[in-house]
Amino acid sequence: MTPFILRPAIIDDASGINAIYNPFIRESAATFETVEYTEAERRCWLDDRPGDPRYPVIIGADADSRILGFASASAFDPRAAYETSVKVSVFVALEGQGEGLGKTLYKALFEGLAGADIHRAYALIVAPNPASVALHEGFGFAHVATLNEVGRKFGRFHDVMWFEKRL
Ligand SMILES: CC(C)(COP(=O)(O)OP(=O)(O)OC[C@H]1O[C@@H](n2cnc3c(N)ncnc32)[C@H](O)[C@@H]1OP(=O)(O)O)[C@@H](O)C(=O)NCCC(=O)NCCS
Repeated sequence: MTPFILRPAIIDDASGINAIYNPFIRESAATFETVEYTEAERRCWLDDRPGDPRYPVIIGADADSRILGFASASAFDPRAAYETSVKVSVFVALEGQGEGLGKTLYKALFEGLAGADIHRAYALIVAPNPASVALHEGFGFAHVATLNEVGRKFGRFHDVMWFEKRL
């Protein structure tokens, strides 16, 4: 497995995170977002969660400090009773995929969440996505539901598989 540098994200990672994520917005149904983040929006996204152990953002970089991917946990729902649940996601640049970075990022993310008051983590995976399914199952997620054609992107409907992890 390639050695990666892992670290918590800082505000100045906004453009590096966008460089990973915006191409998926443009070109892939793996995210249902359709409008690319500006740098200012991403800075706000990072600034909304400072120091909260429930909502980490972990950066994965190569030996030259080039950002190749990131993993994050976000509030499941703003209503208070959901505060012990998070949604997690991980994105790796195409050129960095299949080399263990997704696993490395999730290992760090869940080590951090183990010390937070989080009871359940959810991943919403747009079908089909065998790499994401393998990754989540490897981290103890179980498939709990599929929402049929719940979203439309690029002019066609997509199913979303809900995966749950008990922490
Ligand atoms: C899903 C994703 C994060 C996985 O990251 P990665 O760095 O490529 O994955 P890793 O190399 O760490 O491998 C993780 C697991 O997935 C498996 N895997 C990787 N690519 C695969 C593929 N194309 N098909 C099937 N399994 C695959 C690996 O074998 C490994 O499983 P194992 O532990 O059983 O060996 C990455 O492919 C990605 O960013 N995809 C696009 C965005 C996305 O779909 N994000 C998830 C949104 S829910």
